[in-house]
Amino acid sequence: ECGIMLDSHGRDINYLRISVTGMCNLRCSYCMPEGGIKKKAHKEILSLETIEQIAFSAVDLGFQKIRITGGEPLVRKGIIDVIHQIAQLKSRGLKDLGLTTNGTLLSGYADELKKMGLTRVNISLDSLDAEKYSQITRGGKLSSVLEGIQAAKEAKLWPLKINVVLIGGFNDDEIEEFVNLTREDDVEVRFIELMPIGEASGWDREHFLSGTEILKRVPQLMPLAVKGQGAVARLYKLPNSKGRVGIISPLSNHFCNYCNRIRITPDGKLKPCLHSDLELDIRNYGEDYERFLLDGVFAKPNRHSMQNEDYEPVLRNMNEIGG
Ligand code: GTP
Ligand code: 5AD
Ligand code: SF4
Repeated sequence: ECGIMLDSHGRDINYLRISVTGMCNLRCSYCMPEGGIKKKAHKEILSLETIEQIAFSAVDLGFQKIRITGGEPLVRKGIIDVIHQIAQLKSRGLKDLGLTTNGTLLSGYADELKKMGLTRVNISLDSLDAEKYSQITRGGKLSSVLEGIQAAKEAKLWPLKINVVLIGGFNDDEIEEFVNLTREDDVEVRFIELMPIGEASGWDREHFLSGTEILKRVPQLMPLAVKGQGAVARLYKLPNSKGRVGIISPLSNHFCNYCNRIRITPDGKLKPCLHSDLELDIRNYGEDYERFLLDGVFAKPNRHSMQNEDYEPVLRNMNEIGG
């Protein structure tokens, strides 16, 4: 279905991602610096009220999909109420309200989130081995995510997606095990190519694998028909499996032509593209959030240039952009 905002390259922009905090209870090594990050001063970050107002303006403009991201959104105090407020916009045209989370705090919140009107969750999980999970997240407990996934299932936060960042030499030996999660469960396991952003921008070549590695490793995967415009994952399934496997290949098969999104950072900057340092500052717009959003839509570049020789990696860390 079509929204009403076409950008200057003819793309229909209907998806807003709001990163509500740069803070996180984990410190994944590709996302956060080893020493963690300093908490930002109160006045530097958007108030919950402003976040709600931005969401209201977005839906009035025709945005149909909003996703709350972080850092870890569930560590932001008051976020449950914000989700409740934003969910009210379903009566004004909002179709999908999602949350991207590391899942470790989810078991305590899943039921309430469902009641508050959240549609679904995407959960990050990069290893099924407790020790490796603790290593990549610098101290996270695998059991807490697994409990979070279970709670999300029971609360019917549906369809449930699990995001696996594919890291050469770290979890490529677990591809089959991850794919096997889709046999008995109606979940979508999505492998994401590691992107050279922030912390990961200086990592060795060997850690960057192509999404096609998944198909080499599990040749039984059958392609499914492509879903609507803006879906970043190409979908596959095993014969007779309940769930699906997604491959997100921002590098080897970029999806910029179908890009349907803009994003807001916790400190009030609008990023028209994940891979550009171009940012609009909300402070230049007073309370005209519609203008802010529209300027962001029109400023969207044609595509990213991550493969170009002269590509300059984005400086901001992922914890503040929210993917
Ligand atoms: P759905 O609404 O379920 O389709 O979620 P989503 O895939 O839009 O969001 P999610 O937060 O689960 O992001 C999945 C992964 O895709 C993240 O690792 C992001 O880094 C990556 N990603 C999301 N948006 C973009 C984008 O615009 N460009 C690129 N290159 N990668 C993106
Ligand atoms: N490359 C690919 N995915 C990343 N994520 C965070 N940093 C990167 C990166 N450099 C993922 C997280 C989460 C999603 C929002 O983005 O693991 O699943
Ligand atoms: Fe936290 Fe997600 Fe970044 Fe890991 S990837 S440190 S879970 S925000």
